[in-house]
Amino acid sequence: MKKLIFLLLLFSLATVYGQNPAIQLIPQPVEIQQSEGVFVLTKTSTIGFDSQESRKIAEMLSQKLNRSTGFSFKPQQDKAGSIQFNLNKAPVAQIGKEGYTLVSSSKGVVITANKPAGLFYGMQTLLQLLPEEIESKTPITITWSVPSVKITDYPRFGWRGIMLDVSRNFFTKEEVKLYIDQIARYKYNTFHWHLTDDNGWRIEIKSLPRLTEVGAWRVPRFGQFGQRAEPKKGEAATVGGFYTQADIKEIIQYAQDRNVTIVPEIDVPGHSMSAIAAYPELSCTKDPDTKVNPGSSFSEWYNDGTFKMLIDNTLNPSDEKVYEFLDKVFTEMAVLFPNPYIHVGGDECYKGFWTKDPGCQALMKKMNMTHPEELQAYFMKRVEGILKAKGKKLIGWDEILEGGIGPEATVMSWRGIKGGIEAAKLGHDVVMTPTTFAYLDYQQGEQTIEPPIYSNLRLSKCYSYETVPEGVDAKYILGGQGNLWTEQVVTLHHAEYMTWPRGWALAEDFWSPKESKNWANFVLRVEKQFERAEIEGVNYSPAIYDAIINVRGKEGEMTLEMDSEVPGLDIFYTIDGAMPNIYSIKYSNPFKLPSGPITVRVITYRNGKQIGHLVTLRPEDLKKR
Ligand code: ACM
Repeated sequence: MKKLIFLLLLFSLATVYGQNPAIQLIPQPVEIQQSEGVFVLTKTSTIGFDSQESRKIAEMLSQKLNRSTGFSFKPQQDKAGSIQFNLNKAPVAQIGKEGYTLVSSSKGVVITANKPAGLFYGMQTLLQLLPEEIESKTPITITWSVPSVKITDYPRFGWRGIMLDVSRNFFTKEEVKLYIDQIARYKYNTFHWHLTDDNGWRIEIKSLPRLTEVGAWRVPRFGQFGQRAEPKKGEAATVGGFYTQADIKEIIQYAQDRNVTIVPEIDVPGHSMSAIAAYPELSCTKDPDTKVNPGSSFSEWYNDGTFKMLIDNTLNPSDEKVYEFLDKVFTEMAVLFPNPYIHVGGDECYKGFWTKDPGCQALMKKMNMTHPEELQAYFMKRVEGILKAKGKKLIGWDEILEGGIGPEATVMSWRGIKGGIEAAKLGHDVVMTPTTFAYLDYQQGEQTIEPPIYSNLRLSKCYSYETVPEGVDAKYILGGQGNLWTEQVVTLHHAEYMTWPRGWALAEDFWSPKESKNWANFVLRVEKQFERAEIEGVNYSPAIYDAIINVRGKEGEMTLEMDSEVPGLDIFYTIDGAMPNIYSIKYSNPFKLPSGPITVRVITYRNGKQIGHLVTLRPEDLKKR
């Protein structure tokens, strides 16, 4: 009996942890039990829904299935569809607002939830249970089988977000919708829309037309962001775009249909050059020649973490006109966006222009302030008041803690996790989005071949992320978010490349039980998603297949250590100038590099086939490591 219980336990653990190769889901569900047999979807199958609320999900599934199977499903209000969507009459506490159960057998599939959100996620799981050809945009003839399973699933966190910066580069309405669709499929429920910054104002504010007439457009520039030429006098600003309020309504509806809440961000008081280009009187310097920045260098960053802006990109906290301006912006946004949160930025605000401004000095004196940080705190409290009056809640980057903020403010911890820890200890709600684990703009592999940007963040590091910091009461941690800044991201396909597969790791960090983490198993599931993405035409980064090369010791005594994120790859290298391949030296152990002007070339293979990029480290690269 004991042996039997042990075997049963082993089997259920194996299935819970997704070791069955037939089922490879991301994010990993809370519980899966697999049994013998499959359901085969055919043209005579039916799709049923039990209520008007579940109808939308059934229709969404039909559209998707019709496209790839060539069948013509028309969902029916029914109790016995081969694929059936049902809402619980009495809510089941275990699965909450977003959870679901999915039971499949040879007879069909039943997805049950308390709310349509749960049905939507059950549908996503069903799509991942089907063969990857289900992602085809044209009809394919294969056997559409679904393994027999019983899944009970619900999220670990209520805030599972991705941020897209549409200021540094403008993404069209259709691109934003596609991106929202992609994240929703991995059970993200929050789209943080970074709508304004120094490089473009993207939301139509009808009472402030210059924001989009002027602020949405910059001069054309190419090449490395931060190194581009300044706008020339009289040069036409032709690059950019914005969303009309009608566009925004359409995107909000599209997101709502996918259980995605949009958190719009107006980044103030810093990062405001596009607003100042439109209305120069909002800044301390009031320079009428301020232009929307095209990616030139206008700041200096110092080793102690401080910085200086060479062009004023900051709103003037001592000027009542600024609060009248923000009142107009937030009045229109409060009507547009149905969710409670408005993100007001607060990050990287340079105070140098404030300290020279007589109005700011007078305000500091009047309010008994001793540090310019207190001006930012004053500004944020005013903004919080404006939002509150419109029934909205303030969320901001962790700098909003400096100088104090109202207890109801929610803090987004980005400069590592310390801001989140401090905020939670003060009793604020927190969203964890640290650079060290969640910055999707960072390079994801070998730094000499990935497009250059501030830092590096590998998939394995994202996957290792534990959202609740040690010593913090978990009740303050709403969840987590990955952030895609787009200084170096010009196209949607590149945005996809930066998002996937790291967005899959974060999806699992924020949805799945932390006990279910298993890197080797996750890699198998990532590779399955790669196949799906290829069929669907979604880009991803294959950086996990590239060699990782670490150098220890100084010049003349260097030891090279090689590895790869994907287990079991064969790493071949040369130090004699030849191109590496299977005839080169196969790496097995760390080795000493002879002294001399050596270039190391490394490549990875799996099953005799090249799988990773060629990595070339010249003597100067080796010296730098
Ligand atoms: C940020 O990355 N500046 C929030």
